[in-house]
Amino acid sequence: MILKIVKYPEPVLSQPGEPVTDFNPELRKLVADMFETTYASQGIGLAAPQVGVSKRLAVIDLSMGKEPKDKIVLINPEIISSNGRLYEEEGCLSFPEIREKVVRAASVRVRAQDEKGKWFEMDGDDLLSRCFQHEIDHVDGMLFIFRMSALKRDMSLRKIRKMQRDGVW
Ligand code: NI
Repeated sequence: MILKIVKYPEPVLSQPGEPVTDFNPELRKLVADMFETTYASQGIGLAAPQVGVSKRLAVIDLSMGKEPKDKIVLINPEIISSNGRLYEEEGCLSFPEIREKVVRAASVRVRAQDEKGKWFEMDGDDLLSRCFQHEIDHVDGMLFIFRMSALKRDMSLRKIRKMQRDGVW
């Protein structure tokens, strides 16, 4: 089932998600629906707050549905180490049309639980590193516009206000 993606400034996007404690069929259904929603939106990652669910959960698939082995489910994730620096353009499904450069670590190590509750650790470089940081920010209630320079953030917010006025946001 394709879920509705909420847009900024929906309050749920700015709230830290609740830890996931029940690894039940409802959770697995939510994960499956989140992957389906990501593919339908041609995204590479989606966090639960973006579908209005305030939980510490995100899905990532850099292959956009082409490689089943590329599916990553992050439950109660945290970044346990990071290295280097990237400054690349990012977008977000909750900010259609907005793309700006943000500073991220070049590589990170993430600790998270899978759909069954099993803890694992995983390394990510480059795009995967950026995706890990972007999605883990979402579960913390942090949005990528607040990682931009003040100038780029103001530009983005002005663009959003214009789209809101024009009824296209
Ligand atoms: Ni996002």
